[in-house]
Amino acid sequence: MIIASNFKTNHTRASTKAYMDTLSKFVEKEAIKDDVLVFPTATSLDSFACHDNLRVGVQNAYPVEKGSFTGEIGLEQIDEFGIKTILIGHSERRHILGESQEDIAKKFAFFAEAGFEIVYCVGEPKEVREEGIEAVMTYNLSQFEGIDTNYDNLIIAYEPVWAIGTGLSASNEQIEETLSELKKHVDKPLLYGGSVKEVNTKEILSIKHCEGVLVGTASWDVDSFCEMIRISKALS
Ligand code: PGA
Repeated sequence: MIIASNFKTNHTRASTKAYMDTLSKFVEKEAIKDDVLVFPTATSLDSFACHDNLRVGVQNAYPVEKGSFTGEIGLEQIDEFGIKTILIGHSERRHILGESQEDIAKKFAFFAEAGFEIVYCVGEPKEVREEGIEAVMTYNLSQFEGIDTNYDNLIIAYEPVWAIGTGLSASNEQIEETLSELKKHVDKPLLYGGSVKEVNTKEILSIKHCEGVLVGTASWDVDSFCEMIRISKALS
């Protein structure tokens, strides 16, 4: 299983350090075998002393080594911390920050070339979900345009836009059906994301084809995130 935390625009440099200290100790003490990923804000990145299967990634970066791209970070800034994991295609970047599929594909190609572990997000908005599974799949598959789905170090996160940060997770049936359809097209580990919390972690991780979760809100409290990791461990 892969249990991932997306901090989004939360936590400071100091609170991220405290979070990572607690999480590292937990992973070590509980001898966690699952992969645990944490995506802090760019200002909180550091060379955290992590256990092997606890990795820090970037939420975003510009597909360039370095250069004149105001407000962005590139490979040089990420390399400084030995970070080799990146989140690409998150719905907030697509829908709020306006990244196009073309921008996303360029970013994917650049970081794949650099050998990064890529957590690639897809997910449909509410009006598409309401049209049924065929529309959902057409939409989700269009988000693979320009993406090398055979890339070795690739993890897919299915995150319906309407379930992100709303407290309303997709139903188990919706998750299972969508993941099964995705699996036919992309034979990579599939995560679910969208209002995952302690109370639904067990049932979501038990869904066929679900190989982990990408958690926002409920993961910002380190004890809550550790509890989700504990639930995953108990299932293995
Ligand atoms: P959420 O966010 O857990 O707050 O719904 C998930 C995500 O955006 O990755």
